[in-house]
Amino acid sequence: MRPYTIIFSTMSVDGRIATEEGFSRLSCDEDFKIQHELRAWSDAVLVGANTAIKDNPSLTVRKAVGKNPLRVVVDASLKVPPTLDMFSIPGKGVIITTEDHNGEELAKYKERGIVIIRAGVGPEVDLRTAVRALFEMGVRRLMIEGGGTTSYRFLKEGLVDELWITLSPIVFGSGTSIINGERSLLQDLYLRELKVLCGGWVHLRYKVIKREKEV
Ligand SMILES: NC(=O)c1ccc[n+]([C@@H]2O[C@H](COP(=O)([O-])OP(=O)(O)OC[C@H]3O[C@@H](n4cnc5c(N)ncnc54)[C@H](OP(=O)(O)O)[C@@H]3O)[C@@H](O)[C@H]2O)c1
Repeated sequence: MRPYTIIFSTMSVDGRIATEEGFSRLSCDEDFKIQHELRAWSDAVLVGANTAIKDNPSLTVRKAVGKNPLRVVVDASLKVPPTLDMFSIPGKGVIITTEDHNGEELAKYKERGIVIIRAGVGPEVDLRTAVRALFEMGVRRLMIEGGGTTSYRFLKEGLVDELWITLSPIVFGSGTSIINGERSLLQDLYLRELKVLCGGWVHLRYKVIKREKEV
């Protein structure tokens, strides 16, 4: 069993979520509202280690009504500092890493009340094991807020139910792709909803068409 999972990302017209230099401010007010409503709906919000370090997001609900979700980071190499904003706000913080890390390496996180999930060995977290562990912790609704590598890996494992994308009226020309993988995915999608926001942004909601490889 696994949580119902929605990826939420805002991208440039050329499919980038950040420039080479790390600029990623793409949302308008109505987009922020949707993002925070989705956080409030979710039991947990998850980001990749690079997003956690580069953006230091709090992942809390501020532009909508509702309670803060559990805040989760996927970090195979255990590079995120325990002082990140997502861990300093009251409520649970979770790091998903591999079984290669233990003892002293984990102590600095546990001291701050951060929960550690160890899933798989080697350079990649076993995401199937990880989402089962989240489910066992009570997570039924999971929101993924990028970055591109994390979204790619969840999609590749068949662990995503919906993709919510907002298209921002800007061209980046280079930078991190919204789905950033090393091999082709060819994942089919079904468009369920389309809305124009703030007079120029386009919000799209896709259902991910299921494949055989499911949890
Ligand atoms: N516009 C937007 O909506 C938006 C949203 C989010 C992020 N962003 C931008 O996106 C950029 C970051 O994206 P990114 O693609 O570089 O990185 P990312 O997805 O944030 O993080 C990738 C890292 O997460 C860890 N990770 C994720 N899945 C894993 C798995 N299955 N196994 C092992 N480790 C896993 C790995 O860390 P280890 O190195 O520890 O193995 C990997 O290097 C930032 O510049 C950020 O500003 C934009």
